[in-house]
Amino acid sequence: MASLLILGLGWAGEFLAELLDSQATDISYAATTRDGRNHTIPWSLGTDPSNVNVSRLPIAQTVLVTFPVLDPMVMKALIDAYDRKAGGASQWIILSSTRPFNSPGTNDRHSPLDRSQDPERIPAEDVVLARQGSVLHLAGLWGKQRQPKGWVGYFTTKDALKHKLLDRQLHLVHGKDVARAILAVHLGVQKYTQLRAQRWILTDQRCYDWLRLFLAWASNDQITILQHLLDYDQDIQKKWGRHQTLHRLVKEGLKPRLDSKSFWDSFGLVPTTFLAIE
Ligand SMILES: NC(=O)c1ccc[n+]([C@@H]2O[C@H](COP(=O)([O-])OP(=O)(O)OC[C@H]3O[C@@H](n4cnc5c(N)ncnc54)[C@H](OP(=O)(O)O)[C@@H]3O)[C@@H](O)[C@H]2O)c1
Ligand SMILES: *[C@@H]1O[C@H](CO)[C@@H](O)[C@H](O)[C@H]1NC(C)=O
Ligand SMILES: *[C@@H]1O[C@H](CO)[C@@H](O)[C@H](O)[C@H]1NC(C)=O
Repeated sequence: MASLLILGLGWAGEFLAELLDSQATDISYAATTRDGRNHTIPWSLGTDPSNVNVSRLPIAQTVLVTFPVLDPMVMKALIDAYDRKAGGASQWIILSSTRPFNSPGTNDRHSPLDRSQDPERIPAEDVVLARQGSVLHLAGLWGKQRQPKGWVGYFTTKDALKHKLLDRQLHLVHGKDVARAILAVHLGVQKYTQLRAQRWILTDQRCYDWLRLFLAWASNDQITILQHLLDYDQDIQKKWGRHQTLHRLVKEGLKPRLDSKSFWDSFGLVPTTFLAIE
């Protein structure tokens, strides 16, 4: 029996596989992709709950689902079929996003979930929770090919830049820390039953400011538009005051939108990889 089964060896799954490969500990794993590339098990979860096939999946202590499951009946059918095959209840972890944590002010894992933000994936996550599994709500993922420096160029229009000026918080978590967190959940829930059946928010515990990213990496054109918005846009001036500059706003700081202290404290870890904006 493997320790971990990674359903979907994509971007996040690869970081976990690298961590498990690198460890001296004997944590074994198996992994799937839809096309079976790189010696993974070819496997795909369809949309029909009466047709979920787990015959190719090996039995593992913990099953990690790295992709959104968009139907609770499919999620239930998957866990049922897998448990039948395993001859008992297995431990489940499913990855999610932090989008539903959008209350004004700082959100922690106990803040109300805005289900309308993710109406399709949340019901399947509820199934995982009902089976004592864990939901990891991940902040912006970065590492390897995903570099925030490269995201700055996407915001070229006045509207897009205005949106960032109104909503400056950027919460991130690096793939290496995502992998450490998944491993900690796999080990932690076996030892401490009170850690089971929880939603967790995962960030690197920092709050980055889009304006800092823009000051470091944006083009002159983008900076000109941002300053023009500060000088003339009424919504922006209502939020940040008149006669503002990008530098002064950055210096004043920001109130975080997300708080993931509970995750790191509960599992006795700290995040280790942070974005350097320079
Ligand atoms: N991007 C972000 O900043 C961000 C932020 C927060 C949370 N998230 C969430 O974090 C999770 C992991 O993201 P990621 O970037 O690692 O995803 P990813 O690279 O797309 O990996 C997903 C994996 O799941 C597999 N998969 C997808 N649909 C499947 C299905 N129906 N049946 C079987 N396998 C399936 C894919 O297979 P193939 O390899 O064959 O394609 C892939 O291996 C996702 O739930 C994502 O929504 C992302
Ligand atoms: C196969 O795995 C290696 C090492 O994990 C990775 O660098 C490479 O991108 C993978 N190839 C494909 C086609 O996914
Ligand atoms: C399940 O998948 C296996 C392997 O692909 C296949 O041999 C089997 O016929 C499938 N079972 C059903 C009920 O479709």
